[in-house]
Amino acid sequence: MSDKALLEITDLWVTYWGRSLLGLAGKPFHAVKGANLSIRAGETLGLVGESGSGKSSIANTVLGLVPAASGSMRFGDVDLASLRMRYPSAVRNQIQAVFQDPYSSLNPSMTVEDIVTEPLRVHTAMNRSERRDRAIELLELVSLSREHLERHPHQFSGGQRQRIAIASALALQPKLIVLDEPVSALDVSTQNQIINLLYERRDALGIAYLLIAHDLALVHHISDRIAVMYLGHIVEEGPSDRVYKAPAHPYTKALLDAVPLLDPQAQRDRREARKAAPAHEMPRMAATGCPYKNRCPSAMPRCQAEMPPVYEIDGGGTASCFLYADHVEAPKNGTGRAA
Ligand SMILES: Nc1ncnc2c1ncn2[C@@H]1O[C@H](COP(=O)(O)OP(=O)(O)OP(=O)(O)O)[C@@H](O)[C@H]1O
Ligand SMILES: [Mg+2]
Repeated sequence: MSDKALLEITDLWVTYWGRSLLGLAGKPFHAVKGANLSIRAGETLGLVGESGSGKSSIANTVLGLVPAASGSMRFGDVDLASLRMRYPSAVRNQIQAVFQDPYSSLNPSMTVEDIVTEPLRVHTAMNRSERRDRAIELLELVSLSREHLERHPHQFSGGQRQRIAIASALALQPKLIVLDEPVSALDVSTQNQIINLLYERRDALGIAYLLIAHDLALVHHISDRIAVMYLGHIVEEGPSDRVYKAPAHPYTKALLDAVPLLDPQAQRDRREARKAAPAHEMPRMAATGCPYKNRCPSAMPRCQAEMPPVYEIDGGGTASCFLYADHVEAPKNGTGRAA
């Protein structure tokens, strides 16, 4: 693992513009508000937080699917934000993605061979037989085999489909894979298998992951660092073990206390119910002060009016919370790594 950041996100804002009836740009909605994150080569950053906190907005901005409203995303020598979603292929090849839904992310009319070799066909000069050899290698990396080459996605279980998606993401030997809830749609034992597979491949191939999840407990083993999001803000960040065993921010504590729903269907139902809930039951961004103040058991008067700065936390990392007002403030736009 190198010391230099592979991806350094600084003061990133992601804004969606509503549309009026006339199709004119309406009110802005800030889904990500000044996020700072960094990932070193070969490192896994777990990004957790409840539904709507802005995790996928960060992922999609890194992938060039959504524009950054402001801020920078330095990937090696390139500022991804300044490319305005038009990544040259040399950059695009180095950042791959795996999404949540293994049932809709794979083209049903393609064979596994076509799916896994597609990136090689588009981005390399390999001929058909070289691509086939590489496809077999890639399938073996995800514990599938050459017998699977001719089959179609519907002939596989959800876990196997996610293995195929991972094989395809590995094809071009990327430096970074963005995994947006790669196991949320799977049953618990399959979740663990896929997480273990990701862990092994990362160590063998030296890839960095931005790993998005709801469940901190599930990703803490594989993550080197964890960042916690709440309503567009990174409220805490630090070494995975410290965040998991000694969470600093009251929201991280609440997240760890929340009983995870083991049944994926129950999880989907809960997510849908949250989306359908009337506005007053949804977490709301207060106009001033700490974004978590309305739900925080430790809220103090100053939390109402002031946005808490980012403080360094014992054991490493940072938290944006006045409970740590006697701690040293982290450098502006820093990620608390020094701590
Ligand atoms: N294309 C869009 N247009 C308008 N608003 C959007 C758009 N995409 C996301 N949002 C809003 O931005 C906020 C953050 O959404 P995002 O998908 O990043 O959250 P998330 O943390 O990934 O949630 P989940 O866990 O449900 O996937 C939400 O309030 C969402 O409704
Ligand atoms: Mg999401």
